[in-house]
Amino acid sequence: MSIQINYKINPKNISQRNLILFSNEKFDLKPLKKHMSSSDYNFVSDLIKTKNLKQKILIFDLSSRKKIILIALKQNISYSSVEKLGAKFYDLFKDLKQTQYILDSDSETSKLKNLTGYFLHGLKLKSYIFDKYKSKKNRKNISIIVSGKNKPSVKDQIRFKAIEDGTFYTRDLVSEPGNILHPDEYAKRLKSLSKDGLKITVYDEKKLKKMGMNTLLGVGQGSVRGSYLVTMEWSGLKDKSKPLAFVGKGVCFDTGGISLKPAKFMEDMTYDMAGSAVVVGLMKSLAIRKAKVNAVGVVGLVENMPGGNAQRPGDIVKSYSGKTVEILNTDAEGRLVLADALTYTEKKFNPKFIVDLATLTGAIIVSLGSEYAGLFSNDDKLSKQLIHAGENVEEKVWRMPLNKNFDKLIDSKNADMQNINYVGGAGSTTAAQFLQRFILNKTPWAHLDIAGMAFSKYGGALNSGGATGYGVRLLNKLIEDKYE
Ligand code: BES
Ligand code: ZN
Ligand code: ZN
Repeated sequence: MSIQINYKINPKNISQRNLILFSNEKFDLKPLKKHMSSSDYNFVSDLIKTKNLKQKILIFDLSSRKKIILIALKQNISYSSVEKLGAKFYDLFKDLKQTQYILDSDSETSKLKNLTGYFLHGLKLKSYIFDKYKSKKNRKNISIIVSGKNKPSVKDQIRFKAIEDGTFYTRDLVSEPGNILHPDEYAKRLKSLSKDGLKITVYDEKKLKKMGMNTLLGVGQGSVRGSYLVTMEWSGLKDKSKPLAFVGKGVCFDTGGISLKPAKFMEDMTYDMAGSAVVVGLMKSLAIRKAKVNAVGVVGLVENMPGGNAQRPGDIVKSYSGKTVEILNTDAEGRLVLADALTYTEKKFNPKFIVDLATLTGAIIVSLGSEYAGLFSNDDKLSKQLIHAGENVEEKVWRMPLNKNFDKLIDSKNADMQNINYVGGAGSTTAAQFLQRFILNKTPWAHLDIAGMAFSKYGGALNSGGATGYGVRLLNKLIEDKYE
């Protein structure tokens, strides 16, 4: 559904429109008297006796054409709770017949100010659907005019819009099926992001071969599509200070390769590029809101297919770092793509830190379900910052251990390391240990395993199911709070 939000002070004919007001927790009507006509006020005063005041949202039918909606805000409500309330409101709101509303922002009475913008942001994030391939689109245009003085400032409006656009771009990419968004198409779409002010560089197979990115190339070699590494640079500072780096796994489809996955739910592997999509959405957000930071996004785009030229279990390949890897399972491919991308990012950009994102292991879903992304890091400060940012925007991370005993498990008899461990379980940790071997210069690094977070069957607080865009808001918050 599409929701148009217009910001206007003192719009005309308020009494003709459906009205949305904030109230205090107890639904005291007195403070709202000045925000309604007296006849509406009397009507609502009568009707409220019939309502269950434990609910947070009350809808009053004043006539068949006019509604007044009251939203209860606690005195000490947080921004993130207001966003969630906005999203909850969307679920009620989307089925109402009326399409024209006024939200009077002057009805806000909580301690925190400017809640209206957060409320609408939550509503907007929840309203996303992916219906590109439905012949019959179930869309209606709803317009909310925001009146009063507590409307978001122009700066806030740009900020909300940047986050929404970035998150929706991520969701669009993740939602595209494998036959459409294969690596060739993906690389092409990324090139077009230069219009947002990002510097895009695409390395194709020929270049990657020359550079020695053989662990990345090995994953894609069974596919008729190309393999790519794409860098996206945002220079928001005049100086040449070290950028923040974000690296993403972009496996456009993961069949498992010769170590083929079972048929059931293999279709889910179309979202195995979600890590890369988060990096792309984040970079787009930074560019739209002209963030005062230098940042670089790096994504490895491949398709993991079986085929006559596909990589075999037992193959040994030499990575960009020079380290050799014995491929024991071609389905543990994400770490192979990231290995080269990480070393390259560290070497080329010498960043302040590297955060990588990947739908890397099924094991992280066993550990953390879809509540937390797994966080693995060599740096306590960066970890704390990520945990904190995650709590703030409800995109939570949980730190998991790394240590040399886990690291030993991926030593190989025949090469420097192998891409899976046969003993010890701890599948998400050994995958992270593998990645850590490709950070060569002790750059602060954090790996987020988002396999349980990227996609939601039933929907979450701020999404209505499907691709969640998890990670864009988390990393944007990290940057805003600590690096701008
Ligand atoms: N893309 C998968 C991980 C995954 C599983 C993401 C389920 C989302 C949902 C990854 O490439 C993979 O196949 N990992 C294997 C690793 C194993 C072979 C060591 C896994 O988790 O089973
Ligand atoms: Zn796999
Ligand atoms: Zn995968």
